[in-house]
Amino acid sequence: MAASLRILAGLAFLAVTSAALLSPFAVVGQLTTDYYAGICPNLETIVRSSVRQSMAASPIAAPATLRLFFHDCAVRGCDASVMIVNSNGDDEWRSSDNQSLKPEGFTTVLNAKAAVDSDPRCRYKVSCADILALAARESVYQSGGPYYQVELGRHDGRVSTRDNVVLPHASFNLHQLNAFFTGLGLSQTDMIALSGGHTFGAADCRFFQYRVGADPSMDAAFASELRNTCGAGAGANPSGGGFAFLDGATPATFDNAYYQNLQRGRGLLGSDQALHADQRSRGTVDYYAGSQSAFFSDFAAAMTRLGRVGVKSAATGEIRRDCRFPN
Ligand code: HEM
Repeated sequence: MAASLRILAGLAFLAVTSAALLSPFAVVGQLTTDYYAGICPNLETIVRSSVRQSMAASPIAAPATLRLFFHDCAVRGCDASVMIVNSNGDDEWRSSDNQSLKPEGFTTVLNAKAAVDSDPRCRYKVSCADILALAARESVYQSGGPYYQVELGRHDGRVSTRDNVVLPHASFNLHQLNAFFTGLGLSQTDMIALSGGHTFGAADCRFFQYRVGADPSMDAAFASELRNTCGAGAGANPSGGGFAFLDGATPATFDNAYYQNLQRGRGLLGSDQALHADQRSRGTVDYYAGSQSAFFSDFAAAMTRLGRVGVKSAATGEIRRDCRFPN
């Protein structure tokens, strides 16, 4: 009797956990996809249309917003701390690693926040961290990438300091990249899928110029194109303002061309090309290069996991009124 009760209890537990895994509204920690359903029912539509306007105003808006989300989540968790402006200048966005974040990403989120707060039901009820997560998804989706449900319910952090900023560098090898993403609780597959974010946007010459003519994994024709872009060769024209598209094949479209570029030695950053140069990650690169749908579904899953990093609750955070300043 006791044994059958235990079996029944076990079955009930299994039913509940598998329902939670299957349900699109599954609870993960405190995050749920329907968190604002009763609070701000039109949230997703409002953010979608605001991001559409930002993207129409600037071709940089979408890549800049996606990158902003990554740089936020990777430092102190997804709490919009990257957006805080401290009067003494000691904040994340003024760290050297964040100086290349484009203003258009910040503007996209601030505009979306203003649009959300212009709805009386939503005013001051939606966190900047959640608006950033939604704006990142919209940036991907409206550029041709996957649509995925965004888990919501993050609270905004109150702290942002320069010394906390530790981010991966363009010169990282596979081991260094894995070490960094492992620190966020993400796998090598997540890291390779998220690197696919480099399917749109651009990088300044200073991030890749050192490879031109020096890195044997770079395609020779690509190297000579980059030489024209940045100057006479490695080390030349360091502050000339030159840049190249991270995905030279389809620079404004979210697709799997990034991985196909890597197969041809046309990855722009050292950290991009390393994914194909290293045997341990090449199989995944080849898989995504051959299947856009596999890339899209792994990218969406990895973004969801990235979005859970260091999430704050009502007890540890707040709903910031102005994304630039703690309340
Ligand atoms: C794997 C480690 C990564 C490294 C070393 C890295 C490094 C870089 C660098 C150096 C740039 C060029 C910045 C500039 O010149 O303005 C860049 C741009 C960009 N990164 Fe990453 N990144 C990494 C991962 C990611 C991830 C995980 C995402 C998002 C899922 C992402 C999204 C972007 C986007 C969209 C741009 C273009 C930004 C723009 O055009 O404004 N990156 N990244």
